[in-house]
Amino acid sequence: MTSKDKKQTTETGLRKGLTSYGDKGFSLFLRKAFIKGAGYTNSALDRPVIGIINTGSAYNPCHGNMPQLIEAVKRGVMLAGGLPMDFPTISIHESFAAPTSMYLRNLMSMDTEEMLRAQPMDAVVMIGGCDKTVPAQMMGAASAGLPAIQLITGSMLTGSHRSERVGACTDCRRYWGKFRAGEIDEAEKDEVNDQLVASVGTCSVMGTASTMACISEALGMTVTGGATPPAVTADRIRVAEESGARAVQMAKDGLTIDKILTADAFENAMRVLLAIGGSTNAIVHLAAIAGRMGLEIDLDALDKMGDETPVLVDLKPSGDHYMENFHDAGGMTTLLRELKPLLKLDAMTVTGRTLGEEIDAAPPSFKQDVVRKFDNPIYPRGSIAVLHGNLAPGGAIIKQSAANEKLMEHEGRAVVFENSEDLANRIDSPDLDVTVDDILVLKNIGPKGAPGMPEAGYIPIPMKLARAGVKDIVRISDGRMSGTAFGTIVLHVTPEAAVGGPLAHVKNGDRIRLSVKNREISLLITDEELAKRAQENPVIEPTAERGYLKLFLDTVTQADKGVDFDFLRAAKIVGKTPK
Ligand code: FES
Ligand code: MG
Repeated sequence: MTSKDKKQTTETGLRKGLTSYGDKGFSLFLRKAFIKGAGYTNSALDRPVIGIINTGSAYNPCHGNMPQLIEAVKRGVMLAGGLPMDFPTISIHESFAAPTSMYLRNLMSMDTEEMLRAQPMDAVVMIGGCDKTVPAQMMGAASAGLPAIQLITGSMLTGSHRSERVGACTDCRRYWGKFRAGEIDEAEKDEVNDQLVASVGTCSVMGTASTMACISEALGMTVTGGATPPAVTADRIRVAEESGARAVQMAKDGLTIDKILTADAFENAMRVLLAIGGSTNAIVHLAAIAGRMGLEIDLDALDKMGDETPVLVDLKPSGDHYMENFHDAGGMTTLLRELKPLLKLDAMTVTGRTLGEEIDAAPPSFKQDVVRKFDNPIYPRGSIAVLHGNLAPGGAIIKQSAANEKLMEHEGRAVVFENSEDLANRIDSPDLDVTVDDILVLKNIGPKGAPGMPEAGYIPIPMKLARAGVKDIVRISDGRMSGTAFGTIVLHVTPEAAVGGPLAHVKNGDRIRLSVKNREISLLITDEELAKRAQENPVIEPTAERGYLKLFLDTVTQADKGVDFDFLRAAKIVGKTPK
């Protein structure tokens, strides 16, 4: 610890981080004078200051309950004797962030980190929900180092289309697929569009938002039961109040984030990711958060954990239910109890108790049909498998629980698309030379390629195959896919094509072998041929002249490092997780 850090931890409330310019007394005098412009009394100011991150935005209906949450957090803070101070940061919504939300995640993490450092506060409640916001907030808080609680906005309610229950966004994809295949008409497409997002809140299936909510609780970053209450429920508001009160106690106890985000906590998060059939995106986010703490996620260990961690949570897209059902079934407590023998129970949580203590203190279990028993899983292994081979020397992943059993052992002819534009131009062409046995390969949608590693890895079924009733085909890319998507889809091929990974050199007609059983993804050409191609067609990495794009392209890391900027990761990597 440096002497500067030491000084910061002894100063609290409004005295924190005072700029002195030689006269600290005057700085505090000025600070108080300005905050009093908002009508505060001296007694209000003389208590622990709890920051509350407001990520409300008209562009972000996933955070549409922000005003109620902030009010409840403030109530909790005040009941516990603290002073609540809400402030804005960037907000990112999946559908309103071009070129892709992932491009902006690191920017949001920097905004979060620097505002936590700059403004005087003793602890912070971070309110986020939509896919990139929770990882960005945890990354920022991990680097800033103060006591921090994650407050999730909560899932949206499900809607009803002609009496069938629907929710974003697995059903968005399903209905769009039906429309493309000519199974529903324009009018029905518009009708279902009204029902897919039935309220404010995050996507109601086990997509990235729900996955990160569950992972936040598994990491010990939320109060117990903080992951699952839907956005519009009283339970969600109570969680907000509790989070505010808890933050005050964390400030008093000095329960900083480094005591929570330990290697054990990340191991618990990896277990939970596998058991919930969670989004593949969470691997990237976990790697990024861990990287801020000086830890590396061991992908091969994750794969091995999958042998002993079945998918237990029956939510779409791996199963049948929605987040509100998971909440009714007891939420994460029910799951954690089932996973207990596999968890690191000594991991500390924001409640000041360990995960094991929280599980033991929870109300007794009851009959429900969303969280399965160990001996009756949804899927016998973990949801995600890690692949290696000459096509992905740095690894690739597949969500095996959402893939087609028959296609998981498959050899086929490559049908190659050079980038997203090439794909858009040709995928629906009646002239596209493609059969159901082929393997679609999409290049240049990795961290630098697109840029921002968009969720374009869910390559659509070519129109002519879709019309013939084909529902799945093997697809490979260096991109990501939405946690709400399904199919036999190989993702995160590392290194990506744009930095000269082998993927860049795949040609139409090459043979590719996918064997999930053997954890293999191979391009069936010789090493000599691959080297020859690389020499003949060297890859020129993308660059930019200025601005955030330049920062991004100059410093972004590959998927295995979380697609974080290299300079934002901890200065020293001290270990791997699991240990
Ligand atoms: Fe925000 Fe799905 S779009 S959680
Ligand atoms: Mg998503």
